[in-house]
Order: sequence, then structure tokens, then C-alpha cells
Amino acid sequence: MASKHLLVLVLFVIGATITQATMPVTIPISNVTDPKIQYIGSFAVDEYNKLGQSHLIFKEVIGGHVFFYPPSAAVDYYVDLMAINCSHSGALGNYTAQVLEVSSIKTYYFKELKPKQT
Ligand SMILES: *[C@@H]1O[C@H](CO)[C@@H](O)[C@H](O)[C@H]1NC(C)=O
Ligand SMILES: *[C@@H]1O[C@H](CO)[C@@H](O)[C@H](O)[C@H]1NC(C)=O
Ligand SMILES: *[C@@H]1O[C@H](CO)[C@@H](O)[C@H](O)[C@H]1NC(C)=O
Repeated sequence: MASKHLLVLVLFVIGATITQATMPVTIPISNVTDPKIQYIGSFAVDEYNKLGQSHLIFKEVIGGHVFFYPPSAAVDYYVDLMAINCSHSGALGNYTAQVLEVSSIKTYYFKELKPKQT
């Protein structure tokens, strides 16, 4: 997939230019139509729903940021997404979700989902 190749390239460039290993590097999500970005948003909503606190219906990711921690394979996604809260009379709202990706083992970990602060 093109996006995966791009991510590997970005990680390589960051790894090659940053010598301080502990500084996270922040990149805004520029292309929200990337299927991987939309998947991360729907994954976060699915995992949030499993907690049973309230039930959301994922609509779409509308923005966000990505944090890289070179040279590790950990990538934190902070995605801004729109979702319907079925536990709140079906209101459409904006939420921020945090998902950790460990790209070396191709695994996502849900961290948090909360109403977006404006
Ligand atoms: C955004 O991503 C989609 C899907 O990967 C791709 O078709 C489109 O060309 C990309 N747009 C830009 C501006 O990169
Ligand atoms: C959805 O609405 C319910 C009821 O107002 C609320 O308790 C819950 O926190 C909301 N869910 C989110 C993710 O904000
Ligand atoms: C969600 O965010 C979008 C883009 O910033 C904004 O246009 C929209 O009004 C917001 N929706 C709600 C329910 O706050």
C-alpha cells in the first residue's frame, strides 16, 4: 500500500535527520481520505464501544496529528473524528481519539476517546 510505503519513508527520513532519540516528532494529518486514517478512527470507536460507557457510531475522521518517537516503531495517532452518540439522543459530535500503532508488529492499541475540546 502506498500509505505504508510513505510511512516507512517518513520514519526513515526522521530517523536519519534526528539524532536525539527521545524527541517526538509531530506531523499533522494532511490527507484524511487515506483509508488507514479512517480505519484508525473507526477502530477507536469500536474499542471505545467495547468499554460499554456509551455507544457511538463512527462517521469520519476530519483531522488530527501523528507523533513519531524515533528510533522506536511506536506511532501515536491523535485523530479528530465525528460520531453519533446514541446514548445522547443521537447527537452528532466531535471527538478526539488516541491510538498507538507499533508499526513493527502491525498492531494498534486504543488509548482514549473523549469529546474534542474547542
Ligand atoms: C489522499 O489519499 C487518497 C487515498 O489514499 C488518495 O487517493 C489521494 O490521491 C490522496 N490525496 C492527496 C492530495 O494526497
Ligand atoms: C455520550 O452521551 C452520554 C450521555 O450524555 C455521556 O455520558 C457520554 O459520555 C457520551 N459519550 C462520549 C464519548 O462523550
Ligand atoms: C465538528 O468540527 C467541524 C470541523 O471543525 C465543525 O464544522 C462542526 O461544526 C463540528 N461539529 C460539532 C457538532 O461541534
